Amino acid sequence: MNNFEFKNPTKIIFGKDAIEKLENEIPKDAKVLLLYGGGSIKKNGIYEQVKKGLTNYDIVEFGGIPANPEYAVLVDALKVIKEEKVTYLLAVGGGSVIDGTKFLSSAAVYEGETPWDILSKNIRTEKGMPFGTVLTLPATGSEMNSGAVITRKETKEKLAMGGPGLFPEFSILDPQVITSIPKRQLANGLTDAFTHVLEQYLTYPNDAVLQDRFAEGILQTIIEVTPKILKDPTDYKAASNFMWSCTMALNGLIQKGVPTDWAIHAMGHELTAIFGIDHARTLAIVAPSHYKFNFETKKEKLAQYGERVWNLREGNTNDKAHAAIEKTVAFFHELGIDTKLSDYTKDYEGTAEKIAQRFTDRGWLGLGEHQSLSPEKVEEILKMSY
Ligand code: NZQ
Ligand code: ZN
Repeated sequence: MNNFEFKNPTKIIFGKDAIEKLENEIPKDAKVLLLYGGGSIKKNGIYEQVKKGLTNYDIVEFGGIPANPEYAVLVDALKVIKEEKVTYLLAVGGGSVIDGTKFLSSAAVYEGETPWDILSKNIRTEKGMPFGTVLTLPATGSEMNSGAVITRKETKEKLAMGGPGLFPEFSILDPQVITSIPKRQLANGLTDAFTHVLEQYLTYPNDAVLQDRFAEGILQTIIEVTPKILKDPTDYKAASNFMWSCTMALNGLIQKGVPTDWAIHAMGHELTAIFGIDHARTLAIVAPSHYKFNFETKKEKLAQYGERVWNLREGNTNDKAHAAIEKTVAFFHELGIDTKLSDYTKDYEGTAEKIAQRFTDRGWLGLGEHQSLSPEKVEEILKMSY
């Protein structure tokens, strides 16, 4: 096992009607900016629950943060923060609203020339404006981690940011919120969380026995709850296990002491930036080719995954590893998620070259757990994904 340090300061308030506990979490003298997305919270009752919790607070609101949070919209929210002298941010939404809020937390205290620097120059945030979240969509794990991904339509870029100052102070997780989520977004959430685990697990054997079991436990739980969630999102038992699995998949715990990959996300983010494809779907496009291309270096963990998660018993390491990739593709299809770029756009020619060039320009010359995935290899993987 590798050496590691682990600190996750986010307080999780989990369970039925947990939103009622909101009023205990924010300092009483705070000037609060309530941030939300395109309006789903106004249709499903979450907005009223949150407003009730904020009765005794001085609040302003900013709605309209789109999926794949857009820089230009966030710059408008930043103006509100400055004009209204906001001191506390509350994100009510999925990964996009929470990520947008993390950007604002950082930008509110940033003293450089333009807040875009935080993304383009990869500036880590040691201390941001304090914020909490009410999660409405289990998927990204953003409610308990310190990362964010921001999109800029103008330049078709999607860049990551983070730092120890960007953990939410608290996150409220009421599994009942999933009852209003459209099937397509539920499938996205399941796929995203599943792939988060794969990115931290499908590397090479590293004697981190417990981390492997954590990862396999999350994967097995997601597989187990998937048909129940898709059939009946009011199934609270399934919803609560789904929600907690998504959080645990990306709150830092399972990546401690182990090598991690994250090349699928790096490539996937570009597909969202160029084509606007949902984040989770880009992962399902890239993952199968990525595992086939890197088969030799990943086959031992692929076979372990096949045995322990998919119960594959036949054949040798190679057979099990190949079958594990097929099982993964079949799982995405079961969720109704297409796994080829051509399923989403006819305009895919040249995409691989374009993304490889972007990685070269950014100096991303060696991705993956061995830092060996050059832009040339990225190009090959993406061509296999057409
Ligand atoms: O905007 P509204 O109207 O609220 O509708 C949203 C949105 O259209 C809707 N929704 C959310 N909760 C709902 C609901 N509809 C009905 N009932 C509810 N309870 O769902 C749609 C998608 O929401 P979004 O927040 O975009 O989805 P998700 O949570 O999948 O977030 C995706 C974003 O997170 C980033 C992605 O790149 C993408 O930009 N990621 C963030 C990560 C992180 N911070 O750690 C890691 C991930 O790998 C990912 O990159
Ligand atoms: Zn993801």
